[in-house]
Amino acid sequence: MNTRTQQDIEALRVRIAEVDAWYHCIDLGDGVETPGHFRMSDYLAFYQLPERLDGLRVLDVGASTGFFSYEFERRGAAEVVAVELPGWADHDWTPRYAREHAEKAATERDKIDRDVMLDGFTIVGEALGSTRVRREFSTIYDLTPDKLGEFDVVFSGAMLMHVRDPVLGLHALRACCKSSGRLIVSLSMLESDGDEPLARFAGEWDQCNWWQMSPAALRKMLTCCDFGRIENEGTYTLEDVTGQFQDPTYVCHALPRE
Ligand SMILES: C[S@@+](CC[C@H](N)C(=O)[O-])C[C@H]1O[C@@H](n2cnc3c(N)ncnc32)[C@H](O)[C@@H]1O
Repeated sequence: MNTRTQQDIEALRVRIAEVDAWYHCIDLGDGVETPGHFRMSDYLAFYQLPERLDGLRVLDVGASTGFFSYEFERRGAAEVVAVELPGWADHDWTPRYAREHAEKAATERDKIDRDVMLDGFTIVGEALGSTRVRREFSTIYDLTPDKLGEFDVVFSGAMLMHVRDPVLGLHALRACCKSSGRLIVSLSMLESDGDEPLARFAGEWDQCNWWQMSPAALRKMLTCCDFGRIENEGTYTLEDVTGQFQDPTYVCHALPRE
């Protein structure tokens, strides 16, 4: 990162303030932090990411404002492909919400796309002097090794619950993962005592969160999708910066079946 003048710092603060919806709090240096809902640096240890990723290709699916993508670059990844939906309308919405959104004025829809899906990630990349992270606009379902190549690390943080068909999504992630690679996945956890593979249909919780799963359910889905060993399992409670939103979360690494 180049040394910033006071004028540069003020200009960066202005650009950050122009974006209305920041998902991640990201430290950009010089006392500047993006005003996100979630400070993922507090939870990083639960992901048990490799300390170094030198020479590796990483796929970050559902990158949002990019905390994890830029963290992978910081750890030395040769290339990070950050996947995000092209626009807000491209989520797996209910038909009712999709209709309501389509009825908004085009300027309002554009503003939502820029604020939630587009601009924050770009601002962070420029501020960090990023050179090895690029973004691809796609839904998880359309990711293929023909389009993107195969990856050493595939990451899916807190996004499978937004996907109506998580098994199909996991199939796509497996297809993009090298046989020597690993998938690192987290999702909203259904707390359950036993080892039953339970998935809870969350329906319209916060508009587009379809599923919560017990760890056993995710493990079983992963094995159905040609992953073998599951390791580095952990759980934590994700809180937003106000402490009002709390979400039990399960994380694990899955290795492709031989
Ligand atoms: C809750 S955020 C998680 C952000 C980040 N991965 C993390 O762990 O902090 C979920 C992200 O997944 C994206 N997303 C939702 N549905 C998707 C889909 N079908 N394909 C790709 N990305 C999707 C959303 O746009 C959003 O950026």
